[in-house]
Amino acid sequence: MTDNIPQLTTFDEPALNGAFATLAAEVREASASLTTSDAQENFRLHWLGRKQGRLKLISDAWLKSAPAEAKKALGIRFNQLKQQIEEAIESGAVATAKSGATQEIDISLPGQIRQPGIAHPLLSTMHEVVRVFHHLGFSTSLGPQVESDFYNFEALNFPPNHPARDTQDTLQIAGQQSRPSRDRLLMRTHTSPVQIRTMIAQAPPIRIVIPGKVHRNDAADATHSPIFHQIEGLCVDTNITFSDLKGTLDYAMKALFGSAVKTRFFPSFFPFTEPSADVQISCIFCGGTGCRKCKHSGWIELLGCGMVDPAVFAAVTAERRKLNPDDDAYNPEHITGFAFGMGVERIAMMLHGVSDIGHFYSGDMRFLEQFA
Ligand code: DAH
Repeated sequence: MTDNIPQLTTFDEPALNGAFATLAAEVREASASLTTSDAQENFRLHWLGRKQGRLKLISDAWLKSAPAEAKKALGIRFNQLKQQIEEAIESGAVATAKSGATQEIDISLPGQIRQPGIAHPLLSTMHEVVRVFHHLGFSTSLGPQVESDFYNFEALNFPPNHPARDTQDTLQIAGQQSRPSRDRLLMRTHTSPVQIRTMIAQAPPIRIVIPGKVHRNDAADATHSPIFHQIEGLCVDTNITFSDLKGTLDYAMKALFGSAVKTRFFPSFFPFTEPSADVQISCIFCGGTGCRKCKHSGWIELLGCGMVDPAVFAAVTAERRKLNPDDDAYNPEHITGFAFGMGVERIAMMLHGVSDIGHFYSGDMRFLEQFA
């Protein structure tokens, strides 16, 4: 290194001028190509490195041999030179940042993968089911998750203390004891209260589906979750019969699970429908011959349904008469209807072969990515 150190033997003004002009020219020449951050760093180390930097070596050498009266002049000139070097680095960095194009690109690095957003599998299942019913002329209604006892139970023909309420373990909102029982708030246990809200608000004909989140005080396991989703259906008009219900649900199940699927209706009980039925579809895994998934029965139970109970129409009419005492829009002599309700998680699990309901809520990208 010291070989490159220019020697200086005289320290008068002209000698210093000449020597520093040479150094300044050297800096200027080297700074012409500071177009990358690597080049800027090398240049900085070469000139300003603490131990082996050229500026340090030269100033050490010259200051050592300089007479005392020249030291001040030398110091000033070294400072100017240092400033020139720093400015060169600075303007190189600014130019590099501005141009961008001169930055080095390592084409062997993996690219930035942008993950496209997708609908959650539960949401896409809801959309799928809702779309089937939209094609049949149904529209969508929504309702609140914090619901009153009246809409969630009473108007649906679950009287207070009726044992049918036990089938829907209810999360009550705290501090409601002072209210009349019908006004007490709870987390809705099903989407059926939106049937009541819709009928109070509008006269027949009604054809709606109601997708939504529901809550029950259930322990979580592979097939249960305290928060889950349902899709409710309601059709009310003159001359609606049980065969309309069967035809509608048979069509919907074939649209969802394939045209080979068969449906059958088993007698059941719900307070708000009479008669009530559970709908089973032929097992989509074995085609109905019997397998582990259908517990070797060939059938899978999928939803509840029935004809709207006249007691429900009576509760709706009582509410509507508070606004219009003559209201007779839901007179069960002229008006009939059917309703149904299904669990979204169960359908999504069947459609996608998901074995644990918890996957839907875990937020695990390895699970969710599969639906992209
Ligand atoms: N709400 C019922 C439940 O959560 C499901 C249901 C059954 C809805 C029959 C209906 C129906 O509309 O007609 O268990």
